[in-house]
Amino acid sequence: MDGRFNTDESYRFPYAVRNSDAAILRFPFPFPEDSYMYSMNVEPHVPAGPVASLHHAFDIDEHYVSECREKARILAEDPERCLVLPHMRQAEWDFVELAMDSLSRDYPDLFALDRDGDRWRWTNRPLEITQDFVFGNAGTLPCGPFEYMARQMQGDFTLQDQRDGDLWMDGGMVTSQADWSLKFDLGMSFGQWHAPVPKAPQMGIFDRALRFLLMLRHGHPVRRLNWTMTINPRLDTSPENFTIWGGDRGSVTADNVADKVHLRVELQSLFRLPRSNAILFSVRCYLLPVGAIARVPKWRSRLHRVLRDLDPALVAYKGLDRYLPQTVAFLSRLDDGAVLSPGI
Ligand code: HEM
Repeated sequence: MDGRFNTDESYRFPYAVRNSDAAILRFPFPFPEDSYMYSMNVEPHVPAGPVASLHHAFDIDEHYVSECREKARILAEDPERCLVLPHMRQAEWDFVELAMDSLSRDYPDLFALDRDGDRWRWTNRPLEITQDFVFGNAGTLPCGPFEYMARQMQGDFTLQDQRDGDLWMDGGMVTSQADWSLKFDLGMSFGQWHAPVPKAPQMGIFDRALRFLLMLRHGHPVRRLNWTMTINPRLDTSPENFTIWGGDRGSVTADNVADKVHLRVELQSLFRLPRSNAILFSVRCYLLPVGAIARVPKWRSRLHRVLRDLDPALVAYKGLDRYLPQTVAFLSRLDDGAVLSPGI
């Protein structure tokens, strides 16, 4: 992170999002092989990995200021994008501590946390915030502790309570999701909120994932990459606003495919929270047009092969049907057929 932000971006019509060369090279390209199917692709969330976006607990990039502004607009239009059930209050404070500690440690030029017992001072330089508050006393913050912190971070967050051998989505702030709804999923169990996903249940992925997560330890976070595609650089592809963005799927032509069709990658990380024993699920969304992906030779060939051979059940679930042919045709002209080494 070089400390400079694109402060004038728009994630809604008229769209205006730029990606620097550095942003393209830190994109977490999700395909280590020429084909893709769901798997238990979970690894330790440690400060290492092939691209810099994986190297921090919570990644901050050049879109930080614009994304936080877009999040504030969405919350103003629909305050129920942030919902936390009352029994998650301790998890809210766990989240505040994890986020403030991590951001001030990883980006000392941007954020600072000064603690004097339970009297804390939080400084967020890019958003020009200085806040004195008493840790554990919600009355000393301008809004609930989870909402206060999640507004100052890129991406979505959900809080999972662990009880009865299951995980329950009992809170969250969700404004940049790939077509699912916190309002709908709130209070659901791990199996219930994953019910729409094809194939993975039969493959045993969710049973294994749940068993694994129930044993997640504090201080040993894990991560995985998930992906889909989005027309235009739109963060808020929510079911609530489907009427605004759904029709864009029919707007892709051979002339505009390079700029309009975006690979949408989610860097998902999971943290055990220390006091509440809840699990924080963080979803950091990266959008890159296929025209920018095509600038990296290995990525354009690999994306072509993955999309060309994608299982029809995944094509339907991810909603790619209407523009996949144009996208594959565009990428096929750029794929020289060379054998690609494993990894990105
Ligand atoms: C999809 C939440 C952990 C695999 C989803 C969806 C949600 C979600 C809301 C969208 C479902 C829909 O269509 O409505 C979560 C939460 C997690 C979690 C809150 C942790 C607490 C995991 C883990 C795995 C996993 C550990 C696998 C190892 C998947 C897959 C999809 C999915 C494969 C389909 C994604 C796609 O094709 O775009 N998850 N998930 N999830 N999840 Fe999870």
